[in-house]
Amino acid sequence: MKKQIIVLPGDGVGREVMESAKLVLQAVASEFGHRFVFHEHLIGGAAIDACGTPLPQETVDACMQADAVLLGAVGGPQWDNHPSGQRPEAGLLSIRKTLGLFANLRPVKGFASLLDASPLKKEVVEGSDMLIIRELTGGIYFGQPSERTNDGNAVVDTLYYERTEMERIIDKAFQSALTRKKRLTSVDKANVLESSRMWREIVKEKQKQYPDVKVDHVLVDAAAMKLITQPDQFDVIVTENMFGDILSDEASVLTGSLGMLPSASIRTDGVGMYEPVHGSAPDIAGKGIANPFGMILSAAMMLRHSFGLEQEAKDIEDAVDTVLEQGYRTPDLAGAGERVVGTKEITDRLIDNMTAKSVANSICSM
Ligand code: NAD
Ligand code: IPM
Ligand code: MN
Repeated sequence: MKKQIIVLPGDGVGREVMESAKLVLQAVASEFGHRFVFHEHLIGGAAIDACGTPLPQETVDACMQADAVLLGAVGGPQWDNHPSGQRPEAGLLSIRKTLGLFANLRPVKGFASLLDASPLKKEVVEGSDMLIIRELTGGIYFGQPSERTNDGNAVVDTLYYERTEMERIIDKAFQSALTRKKRLTSVDKANVLESSRMWREIVKEKQKQYPDVKVDHVLVDAAAMKLITQPDQFDVIVTENMFGDILSDEASVLTGSLGMLPSASIRTDGVGMYEPVHGSAPDIAGKGIANPFGMILSAAMMLRHSFGLEQEAKDIEDAVDTVLEQGYRTPDLAGAGERVVGTKEITDRLIDNMTAKSVANSICSM
């Protein structure tokens, strides 16, 4: 299989973890006889510095032609005082919107060997395995007007949703629940927000089409508490854009580190973008110690969702598991008695495991 992959490393650790993902994908390609062609383009702060805009048109054009897009992370303190449309984050929001990537799938599943890496009690974390489905192209991130008054004494951010935007993400969530444990938790703030009341009404309507799915409605404040006290109560969570952003960083605590979480930003048909949940991590950028697994597992999601390469995706996930079982850890996950290594070394160990497995398989089939 030959695929054209657009690579958008972005800023900070985005660049470092992207190198790891490319190496892992190259290893997959040689193991399975595929050809992945990488084309690197600018986004975020790197694009502002080079071209004066966080999302150059040529990046958009390239993504539209691609088989899939990989994104590292954008942002950093040097661009924090730019006006809102000229910040690195505006480039990310704009590429999501332009590509129509309304569904952001954020699986949160701890690896067994990382049970002790979470600050939460082992018995709380054990058994947690959820999929957070975040609406990605609507809500308060995109509503107009969004502005400051001239004298700087008042601001407006608008939360705007159309019914159809809610319907398609809620439908996606019901479909995902059918492929899992058939439990859907819809998270909203229906005791306060009109948008949440419409959201809840749509979930109730849709439920009639999916009688096998058990549905709960939980207010977002209570959901934040339950995520880290009774995480095993959740299977699929569906929620609007900003709630999903916040809850997924919180849920990453179950896995031991924000650096572990992958995501897929997709639409019904067409190109998908795969991005770790974390940001550019300015506090550790340039040190070579970023955890690359969120990015690498995002690449695995790309293989599965965009290319239908289930075995290849599973091989990557198994290799992550093996490396962790072997005790290798980047510092964000480290505890006593573990082998603390940097981004490059943990990636090399992961690739060693994939290669060793493929050699073992070929010997067995001789
Ligand atoms: P962040 O996710 O970058 O970092 C939060 C904390 O998690 C930091 O302590 C960081 O060191 C740690 N962390 C994050 N990724 C890690 C990894 N791979 N390995 C080890 N530790 C990791 O969030 P922030 O500090 O609030 O934001 C920094 C910048 O990133 C901001 O400009 C923000 O807008 C941007 N951001 C971008 C994205 C994205 O591009 N998808 C996501 C979130 C934040
Ligand atoms: C994420 C990030 C982005 C978001 C920011 C950088 C715009 O936090 O991907 O989770 O809020 O969507
Ligand atoms: Mn976020």
